[in-house]
Amino acid sequence: MTSNLTSRRLFAPGKTAVITGAASGIGRSAAQRCAEAGMKLVLFDRDEAALAALAATLGPDVRYMAGDVSSLPDVERLRDLALDAFGAVTVLMNNAAVGGQGSDNWTGIDAWRRIIEVNLWGVVNGVHAFAPAMLSGGGPSAIINTGSKQGITNPPGYPAYAVAKAGVRTLTEQLAHGLRQESAAVTAHLLVPGWTYTGMTNTKDGVQPQGSWTAAQVVDRMIEGVEAGDFYIICPDGVVSSELDAARITWGAADMTENRPALSRWHPDWSERFEAFVKGG
Ligand SMILES: NC(=O)c1ccc[n+]([C@@H]2O[C@H](COP(=O)([O-])OP(=O)(O)OC[C@H]3O[C@@H](n4cnc5c(N)ncnc54)[C@H](O)[C@@H]3O)[C@@H](O)[C@H]2O)c1
Repeated sequence: MTSNLTSRRLFAPGKTAVITGAASGIGRSAAQRCAEAGMKLVLFDRDEAALAALAATLGPDVRYMAGDVSSLPDVERLRDLALDAFGAVTVLMNNAAVGGQGSDNWTGIDAWRRIIEVNLWGVVNGVHAFAPAMLSGGGPSAIINTGSKQGITNPPGYPAYAVAKAGVRTLTEQLAHGLRQESAAVTAHLLVPGWTYTGMTNTKDGVQPQGSWTAAQVVDRMIEGVEAGDFYIICPDGVVSSELDAARITWGAADMTENRPALSRWHPDWSERFEAFVKGG
């Protein structure tokens, strides 16, 4: 796998991680993994009770704060808490998000607004609050934004979620470029989980669906990717291999260059050609 950056250990004893959406799923698993690595932690979520319960299991070097990522003042308070407690931030995970329910193409305007405020503006707020402090801190550090395949291959359904995640991808690409003009020490990364069993995708029976990844698998892949210097950290799952992801991404990009209809993968005149493309035909 090619990488543009040199490898470095950021998930290491004594370093500090700030994680939004830390009370559940991928954020919670990342908090546990960082604590196991001996890191100091600053956790943020709108669910204060779940945060407090988690923090109580993670040792003494943990601070937490309840708030809303869509509120810049809340995220600035999180930054101040982290800097006051531990002096510097090594890893920032802009991870909190809500699902796409309630938004459709021309209905659900309030859901649209809320999804974009949390899933896109939450990341904008995280970057604005933390990037200047991470740059002036001078040490090696990383900003990891959680995107989604829905923001890349754009499958039909939940359009507000897809729009927000497409924004996170574009924002993070711009951020990576902007950071490298300033400093080699601070890097940006786009984490793209596959189908992951979390609070967002929980089944009613509470049983992990076959084929989904656990949040811990995503976090292991994230740490490996960040420390290897990868920008795109695209996770497979038990149903979708990395090869299938690559074929879907390539096909989606070629919709533009080949002048196909939008989302041709799901178009009746094109879906069989897409299947043949995936099979290498
Ligand atoms: N689970 C998947 O299959 C999957 C796939 C692709 C991307 N993702 C992304 O992974 C990230 C983590 O999601 P997850 O699957 O662990 O879901 P989750 O629901 O288990 O965790 C999300 C956490 O974010 C918190 N949160 C939501 N809105 C918030 C707000 N406004 N302010 C602060 N905290 C807020 C929730 O309380 C929750 O604890 C999200 O960005 C999600 O879009 C998940």
